[in-house]
Amino acid sequence: MNAIPPPAASPPMGLIAELTHRCPLQCPYCANPLELARAAGELDTQTWQRVFDEAAAIGVLQCHLTGGEPTARRDIVPIVRRAAELGMYTNLITAGVLLDERSIAELVEAGLEHVQLSFQDVEPANADRIGNFKGGHAKKLEVAALVKAAGLPLTANFVVHRQNAERVPEMIELGTELGAGRIEVASVQYYGWGLTNRAALLPTRAQLDATTETVEEARVRLKGKVVIDYVVPDYYAMRPKSCMGGWARRLITITPRGRVLPCHAAEILPGFDFPSVHEKTLAEIWYSDPAFLRYRGTDWMPEPCRSCDQKEIDWAGCRCQAFQITGDASCTDPACSLSPDHAMMHAVLPESEAPPPAFVYRRIGSNLVGAK
Ligand code: FES
Repeated sequence: MNAIPPPAASPPMGLIAELTHRCPLQCPYCANPLELARAAGELDTQTWQRVFDEAAAIGVLQCHLTGGEPTARRDIVPIVRRAAELGMYTNLITAGVLLDERSIAELVEAGLEHVQLSFQDVEPANADRIGNFKGGHAKKLEVAALVKAAGLPLTANFVVHRQNAERVPEMIELGTELGAGRIEVASVQYYGWGLTNRAALLPTRAQLDATTETVEEARVRLKGKVVIDYVVPDYYAMRPKSCMGGWARRLITITPRGRVLPCHAAEILPGFDFPSVHEKTLAEIWYSDPAFLRYRGTDWMPEPCRSCDQKEIDWAGCRCQAFQITGDASCTDPACSLSPDHAMMHAVLPESEAPPPAFVYRRIGSNLVGAK
């Protein structure tokens, strides 16, 4: 495998390393694919470390360690260590329930620089019901305190949906109390298990408006103390999100089995043969793999994106959502009000007013039988 001279594209800023699909929680909004990788198929320690070497060599600055639950890997410490030794900023995206004082100290010693800790709710019983993990919320509160005590910056991530949206004010309060420097009020994104559970999770318009008002008020009140990120559900949006900062522009994702993707959901797209870290270097993939070139930049865009003054801001939105809603990954994201398919997003909204179905919990090998 020879190095390829870089063409016009900039190097990726961040690597999203999905170390495993294993997770003790079973959140119904998980964006992982329905077909989850088993432990036996995961990349081994040495391969992850070699991949990090390749990432650093092409200029990747940030390493986001995620999953599934990344701390389910027994080799998480040497994995973090290699990324840190290479000078990449290391961010652990975790549900937290497998961490304790000792493992956090080991991760800090290995060079970990930031923790993003997810919460399912502020109300313990509902949080544990959503994650289908008894005692999970209490454990997360302990872990948040340990992370802060270890001197690590903390982001508190609250995934918001129809079954917890009333408590967004308390979520922001909790994040502040925990000493988070950043609070994410993240509406569910409907991919993978989240799409399967959309009818149980999609908020009502009234819930969305109340959440928006709460976030706007808190941003003013907490200015200079905590940053609040807010992600709205695409189904209510008028303009599309800049998914991944644009296809193959800023981020590169590697799945537990070693598939290299421009985004976490790309494996749903037909007509692609995504490369593996076993076949090509990250440089070859980033700069010349057809899957990465396919929707990079603006040349591929259809109308109305092609003549839109926002095309280098939103990059035509999300290819995976375009495919999920319209069946065509190369059309304008229907979240955009200018898309000829925008009405297809609105057609979904009545789901938010109907009685919610039971959750289909995220499970490896699940036959998608619902449980509540
Ligand atoms: Fe694949 Fe948005 S999730 S492009």
